[in-house]
Amino acid sequence: MSALIQDVIHLVQFGSEGRSRDVKALARRMSQKYKDEIPELAERLALLAVRNGALRAAGRPLPVDADSRMALARVIEPALAREPILDEITRTRVSQLVSEHRDPSQLRLAGLSPTKSALLVGPPGVGKTMTAHWIAGQLGLPLVVLDLATAISSFLGKSGQNVRQLFDFCKEFDCVLLLDEVDAIAKRRADETDLGELKRLVNVLLQELDEWPEGSLVLAATNHPDLLDPAIWRRFESVLEFTLPSGSERQALLMQQGIGEAGLLTVLTQAMAGMSQADIVRQIRSSKRFSVLAGVPEADGLLESCAEVIRRFPQAERHIISERMVAAGVSQRRASELTGTSRNTLRKRAKSTP
Ligand SMILES: Nc1ncnc2c1ncn2[C@@H]1O[C@H](COP(=O)(O)OP(=O)(O)OP(=O)(O)O)[C@@H](O)[C@H]1O
Ligand SMILES: [Mg+2]
Repeated sequence: MSALIQDVIHLVQFGSEGRSRDVKALARRMSQKYKDEIPELAERLALLAVRNGALRAAGRPLPVDADSRMALARVIEPALAREPILDEITRTRVSQLVSEHRDPSQLRLAGLSPTKSALLVGPPGVGKTMTAHWIAGQLGLPLVVLDLATAISSFLGKSGQNVRQLFDFCKEFDCVLLLDEVDAIAKRRADETDLGELKRLVNVLLQELDEWPEGSLVLAATNHPDLLDPAIWRRFESVLEFTLPSGSERQALLMQQGIGEAGLLTVLTQAMAGMSQADIVRQIRSSKRFSVLAGVPEADGLLESCAEVIRRFPQAERHIISERMVAAGVSQRRASELTGTSRNTLRKRAKSTP
């Protein structure tokens, strides 16, 4: 029997047994498997796998704050987002999380269930929110993002009720719930400035996390892990740590942003040490805009935007960078201006290198 016929039989079998999660997981796998052979089928299956959850979300009214009547969350339709550049360990753990939820059958056979909660921790701008979007996109599920401003009601006692309502809403359909900047609602209960409202809120959150159903996924992100209540920490099955990018990660990020020329890549990778992924992306975009408006080559604009950083490097390092600039096609005059290395030195070094 051909693999396709077998897959179709499984699909029908899961459907007739009402196993919607398995139907979607199989549809997604089939869309990958047949994308070269039968692209039309692959496309239709991918759409089916994505739409299922999203449509069911769209049909439901969003929970609202009782006083302001404002929605407590935003629902973001699944989309194929750019893959975050992450360190090896975090990338592996994120892809395992996705695989567990895409196809939990293997885990189930072993009496296990997919990770149901993960805490994303790290400094600002390193891709915590982006990764949550990416995970939901990979699973073809809508991402429900808690709106903190609305959820933290100014009326005492209402915030807990809001959080409870949101969890109830999410339990009713396939989605990924994101509690972004969770420290705002999960601060240590010993906080002296607290009036009791915070304690209630943390207790609600603890209870909701305990009751969160197997097979569902709740993500929470924070850049203030030290503020989180220790009991909240313990509730998360997985803690994913995000860091500032290493040299090779900065290089991968620059390449993702369309910088391909080897010399330029080396120089920028070095000059952007210590910056977050968000800062790097912002700087590249703004310097690209500058280059277009000022009518200068893109590489010049990018180097210009890093010149201040480069000039702060020790002399020996600036010499090496200026050589790399010249090797990347930047004129000696320009390399000298940008790095503060004299043209004379540059010429001498060029002569002495074979
Ligand atoms: N790891 C990454 N890979 C690729 N791009 C990234 C990465 N991290 C951040 N960016 C870029 O920076 C933007 C902002 O990142 P994001 O909002 O995910 O950071 P964050 O860790 O959630 O920060 P914060 O703690 O301030 O909320 C992203 O939309 C993306 O353009
Ligand atoms: Mg964020």
